[in-house]
Amino acid sequence: MQRRWIWLLIALPMVVVIGFFTLVLTTPRSSETRQAQTRVSGEALIGGPFTLTDETGATVTDADFRGRAMLIYFGYTYCPDVCPFSLQIMAAALDQLTDEERAQIQPILITIDPERDTVEQLAQYVSSPAFPENLTGLTGTPEQIAVAASAYRVAYRRSEGEEESDYLVDHTSIIYLMDRQGRFVDVFAHGSDPQSMAARLKEFLEEDSAS
Ligand code: NI
Repeated sequence: MQRRWIWLLIALPMVVVIGFFTLVLTTPRSSETRQAQTRVSGEALIGGPFTLTDETGATVTDADFRGRAMLIYFGYTYCPDVCPFSLQIMAAALDQLTDEERAQIQPILITIDPERDTVEQLAQYVSSPAFPENLTGLTGTPEQIAVAASAYRVAYRRSEGEEESDYLVDHTSIIYLMDRQGRFVDVFAHGSDPQSMAARLKEFLEEDSAS
């Protein structure tokens, strides 16, 4: 009998917490949220122009990727776990495509740590065999990075209390799929599995070539 009470004591607060978050997450918080949701069906809410520098030192803009779909991830090369994990998932998904399908998709890493992610640093990082084969790395001035991140609704913030050169950066971890015209198609949340990502990419390529 006593055990039952203990379980009840454990279960009850959990039910309350889960109920609370369900309520918070499903209730539109403001008219701004509702407006944003309506706009998704219209013009792209995510994405936009950027001018950055790639891992060879060349200046590139979003327009340079037209004709290929873009798989974009914002991260940084000093990231201990989240970024390498996401880029490996991306690689595993792309590995499941045919060569022909893969050629239509450009994987892109945009750094949110431009101070440390120099052209040289990015060049070395994107060449890792664990990451997508033709992964390109983009850096820029802090202002250029801020413009790109803002267009993709990516938040990033240096964590406090770390040493000057040895800090972490908290950041949004989402992979964006943009079509051949640079328009938003879909997102892959952190922790997506390669199989479903590959399936979505194949579906997109079929739809895109049909339209
Ligand atoms: Ni990261």
